[in-house]
Amino acid sequence: MAKKILVTGGTGYIGSHTVVELQQAGYETVIIDNLSNSNIGVLDGIEAITGSRPVFVEGDCTDIGTLRRLFEENRGINGIINFAASKAVGESVEKPLMYYRNNLNTLMNLLELMPEYGVEGIVFSSSCTVYGEPDINPIDETAPIKTATSPYGNTKQISEEIITDFINSGAPVRSIILRYFNPVGAHPSSLIGELPRGVPNNLVPYLTQTAAGIRKELTVFGDNYDTPDGSCIRDYIDVVDLAKAHVMAMERMLGENSGGKIEIFNLGTGRGVSVLELISAFEKATGVKVPYRIGERRAGDIEKIWADPAKANSELGWKAEVQVEETMRNAWAWQCRCMKNQD
Ligand code: NAD
Ligand code: UFG
Repeated sequence: MAKKILVTGGTGYIGSHTVVELQQAGYETVIIDNLSNSNIGVLDGIEAITGSRPVFVEGDCTDIGTLRRLFEENRGINGIINFAASKAVGESVEKPLMYYRNNLNTLMNLLELMPEYGVEGIVFSSSCTVYGEPDINPIDETAPIKTATSPYGNTKQISEEIITDFINSGAPVRSIILRYFNPVGAHPSSLIGELPRGVPNNLVPYLTQTAAGIRKELTVFGDNYDTPDGSCIRDYIDVVDLAKAHVMAMERMLGENSGGKIEIFNLGTGRGVSVLELISAFEKATGVKVPYRIGERRAGDIEKIWADPAKANSELGWKAEVQVEETMRNAWAWQCRCMKNQD
């Protein structure tokens, strides 16, 4: 019988791509999302790609009653992937309580209900933000956790601690914590992708909107860092590669050969790419020029960080495969598709 997975935040950017990969791997999926940062139309995209529509519950994970009803009405959920969270770093500085409430109550409600409904494991979306500015790159999972620089980052650190404490208390659940580096791109079908609201904060959506003429120019935040071309370095991971890692994590967590009650994996390519290199990769892949200028450094930015993904490679059997040019082509195709839909 197909295993049933609850995907919180499943109409969001990474969640929707993961639901596609789960369905294609033979899992049944149930999504809960309050649509605070996504759109119900995403379900059509998932259905068009996979041929089946996930069960969808519109609801808020901070409301334990809503979650309880979901578990009552959808018996036999084997695992959870918890994407539901607020994720804008700047907004979290302005509205810290909203971030702590949303991100932590969501997680605690899920954990509390898992033993009651026999849910065996939870995959949690964490972030390389927990490492702060690394002392050495590439960075592996044993690197020290640095003091968080935003309430958002702190919710990820606290969430990791909550999961660890809960499991160490003897709760009959397992967890895999996935620390994402920088997820970018879109599904190659252009049927799902990232839907930033308002002016994007992140590099790739800002870049594709600039290439499309929606924004006048891209500002490169600083070219005087201690990096080969002076711009910041990140590890850009294709969203479909990232989604596939969740399927492998779920298989491992629910399988016979689970690596223990709690495991942590970095999800990145292992390759650092600068802002200027990413712009070039986009231009090369699409033939479209990106007007940009060099601006001031952005407060709080990390200079350089990229993953050592060896543990995920060897233990999860997962490896990032999509090349950055292909990711940029997919991001551009998605941008073009979004504009066509607005016409
Ligand atoms: P997203 O905003 O596209 O998706 C999150 C989804 O959760 C949205 O659809 C939103 O409507 C929903 N949601 C939020 N709060 C909810 C609640 N209380 N109840 C029900 N639904 C709720 O974000 P994403 O980029 O897909 O990120 C998914 C997860 O990965 C988040 O936990 C995020 O912190 C983490 N993460 C993202 C990145 C990134 O750069 N995108 C990097 C590292 C970690
Ligand atoms: N950048 C620009 N111009 C822009 C936007 C970004 O030059 O208009 C630069 C930034 O300075 C940075 C790089 O592009 O050097 C990437 O910036 P993003 O905002 O896309 O990503 P960050 O690495 O700053 O942060 C993202 C998420 C965080 C998450 C982190 C790690 O926003 O929530 O990745 O996963 F914690």
